[in-house]
Amino acid sequence: MAIDELEVRALRDVVLADGTLLSELINHESCEVDLRVLTDPQIYQLELDRLFARTWIMVGHETEIPNPGDFVVRYIGEDAVIVARQPDGGIAISLNVCPHRGMQVCRAEVGNATKFKCPYHAWVFGTDGRFLAAPFEQEMYGDALDKPALGLQQARVGTIGGVIFGNFDQQAPSLREFFGDFYWYLECILCRTDGGLEVLGAPQRALIRSNWKGPAEQGSIDGYHAVGLHRSLRDLGFLGREMTPQAWGLISVDISANGGGLRCTDLRDVIRGDLTDKEKLEQAPPIGLTPEMVLQLGNNLSPEQVAVVANYPPSVGQAFPSFEFLLTPGPLEDGRAGPFLALHTWVPRGPEAFEIWTWNLVERDVPELTKELALRAAIRSFGSSGNIEMDDGEAWPSQTRSARGAVGRKMTFKYRAFHGHNPPEGWPGPGQVHDGITRDDGQWGWWKRYFEFMLTAEAGQ
Ligand code: FES
Ligand SMILES: [Fe+2]
Repeated sequence: MAIDELEVRALRDVVLADGTLLSELINHESCEVDLRVLTDPQIYQLELDRLFARTWIMVGHETEIPNPGDFVVRYIGEDAVIVARQPDGGIAISLNVCPHRGMQVCRAEVGNATKFKCPYHAWVFGTDGRFLAAPFEQEMYGDALDKPALGLQQARVGTIGGVIFGNFDQQAPSLREFFGDFYWYLECILCRTDGGLEVLGAPQRALIRSNWKGPAEQGSIDGYHAVGLHRSLRDLGFLGREMTPQAWGLISVDISANGGGLRCTDLRDVIRGDLTDKEKLEQAPPIGLTPEMVLQLGNNLSPEQVAVVANYPPSVGQAFPSFEFLLTPGPLEDGRAGPFLALHTWVPRGPEAFEIWTWNLVERDVPELTKELALRAAIRSFGSSGNIEMDDGEAWPSQTRSARGAVGRKMTFKYRAFHGHNPPEGWPGPGQVHDGITRDDGQWGWWKRYFEFMLTAEAGQ
């Protein structure tokens, strides 16, 4: 439901410190959002309560914790969580805050454990967060401890293609419902093969002096910025020499749905002839698949999804609010290719900082040499050493810096270029589909859903 369709009385608007209403920071007529959202500490706190504590946030991949007891510590907003593999193969996501007096129970970032002991007064919890024991329990408490109520708080767990998401809102819709139409396209990226994806080592992390919405706004899905910010890619010869939208890679089929944005590569002019989808896939295997793995698409995706992968392969995008994916051919300097899938999440660290987390993945069943090349290509492109993302690391802090000024914070993000729904003929997938030059539909959709969460609240908030 769009915010302009909601009854005003159903909103839980907020008066900001200077008397401005939060709802006044988005203009639905002119399609603008005030830069102030990047630096206002009151808005930041509301985001933790109304967005991060109520949405599905990516915390890792199942192949990081293959064995019972394997765990990693991750973040849902500012809340640290322990993501742990259970003896039955399931996953538990526990708040890493001791119910006794608030210390972080687990001080390691990764490991294997049969239980977690809080360092402060040594209360002990299972890998599923259950309270197990306290020292001198009888002498201290007798029978007074309400043990079931003293476990680590649990988040709900959802996975797609092995990617793990957590959500602290017990009333929230399921992961599939939350992503809605966008889920269909996520499967086209994350669920293509029988063996599934695997991570190439631990995720990279870097602290960026920017509000987390710098990358999030870009992620859903700003192709236009390549013309300015990533000009060096063209200068280095990766994008050709012409000054046309085609040469800049701006012509595509974009999808926007449920606050997410996705770019699909248009192969209509690349693969010619009257070929079946299977023949097209064999002629041009999708990024990251060997020719032998092409047949597995039919085992894991619907015929309609296979048709999209064959004709308009999904490549880069973001699911709302902060799960970005980049499926790329990974060209290397020696002419070889290291195709990989990079996953990002933006972890907020105060109004003016966030951590960019980067996981690099490949299909588990590709040859070992491909995995080696993929890791090299991934490190070269994205994350803190990536020649693409270094550019973005200049833009995001600059936007936040602008939003500190008394005048600058009243400037706006502007969205003036829209397609609406204009899919190619016979498009078999859901969502709003935009054929042609990349425009603002996805990014504006991200802001609309952001304000839907920010202007509604759980009871008591
Ligand atoms: S704070 Fe954890 S046992 Fe006391
Ligand atoms: Fe970029």
